[in-house]
Amino acid sequence: MYFADFPPGAGRLEPRAALRSDAPSLDLTGDWRFRLSSVADLPDDFAAPSFDDSAWDVLAVPSHWPLHGHGAPAYTNVVYPFPVDPPRVPDENPTGDYRCVFDLPEGWSGGRLRFEGVDSTFKVWLNGHELGFSTGSRLPAEFDAGPYLVEGANVLAVRVHQWSAASYLEDQDMWWLPGIFREVELTRSSADLFVRAAADGTLSFEGEGLLSIPELGVADLAPGTEVQVAAEPWSAEHPRLYEASFVTAEETVRLRVGFRTITVEDGVLRANGVPLVFKGVNRHEFHPDHGRAVPYETMVEDVLLMKRHNVNAVRTSHYPPHPAFLDLCDEYGLWVVDECDLETHGFGQTAWRGNPTDDPRWTQALLDRMRRMVERDKNHPSVVMWSLGNEAGVGSNLKVMADWTRERDPSRPIHYEGDLSCANVDVYSRMYASHAEVEAIGRGEEDPLDDPELDARRRAMPFVQCEYAHAMGNGPGGLAEYQELFETYPRLAGGFIWEWIDHGLTHQEYGYAYGGDFGEPLHDANFVVDGLVFPDRTPSPGLLDLKKVFEPVRFAFDEGTVTVTRAVPYPLSFPWALTADGTVVAEGVLEVPESPGAEVKLPTLPEVAEPGELWLTVRAVLAADLPWAEAGHEVAWGQTKVGEGRREPVVTRGRAGADLAGATFDSRTGRLTGLFGLDVEGPRLELWRAPVDNERFGGLEWNWRTLGLHRLTHRIDSVSREDGVLTVRSRVAPAATDLGMSVTYRWSDVGEGIGLDVHVVPEGEWTLPLPRLGLSMTLPASFEEVVWFGRGPGEAYPDTGMAAAVGGWGASIEELQTPYVYPQENGQRADVRWARLTGGEGPGLRIEGEPVFGLTVRRWSTEELAAAGHLTDLRKGERVHVHLDHAQHGVGTAACGPGVLPRYELRAGEARFAFRFTAV
Ligand code: GAL
Repeated sequence: MYFADFPPGAGRLEPRAALRSDAPSLDLTGDWRFRLSSVADLPDDFAAPSFDDSAWDVLAVPSHWPLHGHGAPAYTNVVYPFPVDPPRVPDENPTGDYRCVFDLPEGWSGGRLRFEGVDSTFKVWLNGHELGFSTGSRLPAEFDAGPYLVEGANVLAVRVHQWSAASYLEDQDMWWLPGIFREVELTRSSADLFVRAAADGTLSFEGEGLLSIPELGVADLAPGTEVQVAAEPWSAEHPRLYEASFVTAEETVRLRVGFRTITVEDGVLRANGVPLVFKGVNRHEFHPDHGRAVPYETMVEDVLLMKRHNVNAVRTSHYPPHPAFLDLCDEYGLWVVDECDLETHGFGQTAWRGNPTDDPRWTQALLDRMRRMVERDKNHPSVVMWSLGNEAGVGSNLKVMADWTRERDPSRPIHYEGDLSCANVDVYSRMYASHAEVEAIGRGEEDPLDDPELDARRRAMPFVQCEYAHAMGNGPGGLAEYQELFETYPRLAGGFIWEWIDHGLTHQEYGYAYGGDFGEPLHDANFVVDGLVFPDRTPSPGLLDLKKVFEPVRFAFDEGTVTVTRAVPYPLSFPWALTADGTVVAEGVLEVPESPGAEVKLPTLPEVAEPGELWLTVRAVLAADLPWAEAGHEVAWGQTKVGEGRREPVVTRGRAGADLAGATFDSRTGRLTGLFGLDVEGPRLELWRAPVDNERFGGLEWNWRTLGLHRLTHRIDSVSREDGVLTVRSRVAPAATDLGMSVTYRWSDVGEGIGLDVHVVPEGEWTLPLPRLGLSMTLPASFEEVVWFGRGPGEAYPDTGMAAAVGGWGASIEELQTPYVYPQENGQRADVRWARLTGGEGPGLRIEGEPVFGLTVRRWSTEELAAAGHLTDLRKGERVHVHLDHAQHGVGTAACGPGVLPRYELRAGEARFAFRFTAV
């Protein structure tokens, strides 16, 4: 059976470059007839032109059939959803038969049927004649249609199997989504060329035809001839392209040539001679409604979003993207690591027994994939590295792929992460290495390989993190610290965040579905939802932080001056603003010379009558429109505190005879029963938070729950009133352990408002970090709005929130929530000096902290948030839940990679903090 055998295809034409040709072509996308069967062993009768398909469904090409009511999507990360017994596959093998009738234009003869992407194996018939079959889901395949085309109506029949031998090679961490998911055309183009254009202006090409680049004075260049031209080099920051034409006897091809050179010199990766640091993301092709059949506008949206968030590189994890995406990368400027459609991760489950990467029976299939990628994408200046694949173990076939590639294209380094020996590659690549390990590699002090020769080779290589900072749920933490390393050690060529987008599929009941939501018996839950943008491509806080960390312009403030460094060639302007307690009191524009680094005097700031805390913020914005953003787009910002302001001490520890006007207490328990007439519950000590994905998958949640932090008990030990201070002593502890927190709450009249001073002393040996340390309280549901002076506008945790600036901010309670597809702790506003909650009946409440505090306000409890599996589980309740945190634990990236860095851990220790509550 062809679909359960080693050969990667039959009847196909040689692979060639994706090109824009003026040769006639017939777009065959559109509505095709479709029938789904549950098995693969079916008669071929449907391929006959006379076959009656009138009872079949209609299905759009391109698309995935499970997203159109035929079967269902399924998600697994590492494991194969079928028995590992290569090259065989189960009898239950969803098989889609497609039929398309097209009219041949008059005078048409010959041509190729070109399929851009079919998942996973397909066989093709034209007018009843079998043309062949192909594998390699994310790669084009062409068949010679010429001999079988007929005048008038032609019948194209395609049989697609979900499972095939090729499925063993396509075990990427993503939804299994079969179907003809990229375009199909009949084309009379057959041209192929390979342009070699270097940064020093040398130009030549291979191919049968003549090349012209009018702008550079190149006319009718013959293949194999090298010329020297005066071309500006192409780079991600300055993606200079030259329009070229390639003329053969049959057609004229238009292409855009970029001149650039990638080298490794002295262990440093360089582009056009300059050290190259990837500020990259891993991009899967994904759309919440269409899966990997990504509309063109969505590709443009991805590129624009990346550029606008200071991303300069993409790894096409883990397969070649739609060819149009690479055109966009050429045009807008993104460095690309183009990755072969190869992953055999599931063999890891069986100790890599039978791994195709190391089995000669699979050599042709693996080489076929590599060749087809290189041939398709070889003319893109944006593509600066070829990757042999992802997580495919080690083995002899890697060498075959690498040797062929090096021979065919010596101009690009080869990448593969899965073989630590780096025997076949040109760069040392790792995923999820800790900061400490990256630093050791940066210094050239990594642990040696056993083989001294290989070790010496690897030690001379530049280093990339092909995946780091797993962006699952709330996070990733630790971004800034990685970037600092990348910018410190020349050997470090940066890396690629895992990953660009959450693969949540649109779902009626759940909003966005993840693994298991379609009833898959074997799945990896929400591990597929780990992106920097939500499924609808709204940037998550993680992307906003990344933008800050990747800023190509930096501000270093000093007494009266700021040093501005910039690494991008485009014109910028530098508006500044002075704020007092978050309100703008003066504005201007800073004159900054265009040099890469300049020390500039800060503006003379006006005297401010009612000072408050004074902050000077300087922004770098585009001074003119660029293809990817308009003038005024913010590229970078920095701020510095220029005045402390006056802050009343929040708590004056009680005044004799004063009563606690505005607050009512239960005299027996000391529990606050009312505040300025508001019905309140709490505040009381809270240690628990709804675990974030990094805690769920990294093991910390389990430890926390075992300790019982989600079921704390509160015991009142004493209530006393003295000198106008109400003192409540309490012990907060989980059951079944002798660990606890002794908490003293002191309530006092502080002139304006009610003060609450909290003193926490841990008891016993606390070894685990705490989720949070702070107060929680609830208020009536009528509260709507929050205004605060602190960091914002977005959320921030100890190791995230680089995008959050000190200022005056406001949001509705709904807007304060970050809609992580899998509900978890979110939405904290950090370093809050004061906040005002208002809306509905009764007075508003102003809360001032000493020191600053973390503010979280939501319409559901922590328990409800922790229990929810989808956002649709969260409903507005009877109360507004408010957290006033002295501290929280960082979020790290332990779902995949290192946990919270020690400096961002929240360790149990004695703590004092205070709040003042006032009615407003
Ligand atoms: C890596 C893998 C990615 C993804 C990630 C976890 O090991 O290469 O495809 O699975 O882990 O999200």
